[in-house]
Amino acid sequence: MENKWIAIAIDGPSGAGKSTIAKLLAKELAYVYVDTGAMYRTVGYAALSAGIDPTDAESVVAMLPSIRVDLAYDNGVQKVLLNGDDVSDRIRTPEASMAASAVSALPPVRQFLFHLQQDMAATHNVIMDGRDIGTVVLPHAQVKIFLSASAEDRARRRYDELVAKGMDVAFEDVLADMKQRDYNDSHRAAAPLKAADDAVMVDTTGNTLEQSVELMKNLIKERLG
Ligand code: DC
Repeated sequence: MENKWIAIAIDGPSGAGKSTIAKLLAKELAYVYVDTGAMYRTVGYAALSAGIDPTDAESVVAMLPSIRVDLAYDNGVQKVLLNGDDVSDRIRTPEASMAASAVSALPPVRQFLFHLQQDMAATHNVIMDGRDIGTVVLPHAQVKIFLSASAEDRARRRYDELVAKGMDVAFEDVLADMKQRDYNDSHRAAAPLKAADDAVMVDTTGNTLEQSVELMKNLIKERLG
C-alpha cells in the first residue's frame, strides 16, 4: 500500500540539536513534530511516580498495561500525556532522564511505544526524532538524517543550557556524562543508536543554530524534490 504521508527521521546522540532543529523545521514545513525521547521519559516518569525502580525490568514491564501514553498538540507544540495528565514539564528533570535511559533499554517498553510512533506516521506528515527512527521505527522514511557533533560541542551546549537555568555544574562533569550516555545508547542490545545505511550524515560541530537549520532545510528540499 502506498503511503501518502511523508516522514522525516532524525536520529543522533544527545545534545546534537535534534529537537531544537526538528521543532523549527516542523513549524516551517507544517509537519507534526514527534519527540520520541519524551515518550521514553514518560514511561520512566510513570515508574518513578509508582514507586518502581526504573532499573527493575520486571516491575517496569508489569506496569505497562496500566499506563496510557498519548501525544497531544497545542498550537503545534507537542504535549505528552500520562493517563490523560499533561506531564510535559515533569519529564524534564535529571531523575526522569536517568529513568528514561533505564527503561529505554527494555524491549517491551520499546514495543509499547513503537505502535504509538508508527500510528503518528501513518496519519500525519511527521518529523520524528530519536535514536532508532530511521533504523527501526520508520525504515521507509523518505528522508533520514543522522545528526551529530563532537562530544565537546554537545557538552558545551548542554552546559550553557544548565548554567542558563541557574544550575551549578562543572563542564568536565557534563562532558563525562555525555560520553557515558553516548556509550550506553550505542552499546545497548535493543535498538542501539546507529545511523541507517541510507541516512544522510550531518555534523553540526561549530555551526550556529541558524546554519544547521538552513543546511537541513536544503537537504530535505533536495531529498523531497
Ligand atoms: O532524546 P531524550 O534525551 O529526550 O531521550 C530520553 C532517553 O530515551 C534517552 O536515554 C534515549 C532514549 N531514547 C531511545 O532509546 N529511543 C528513542 N527513539 C528516543 C529516546
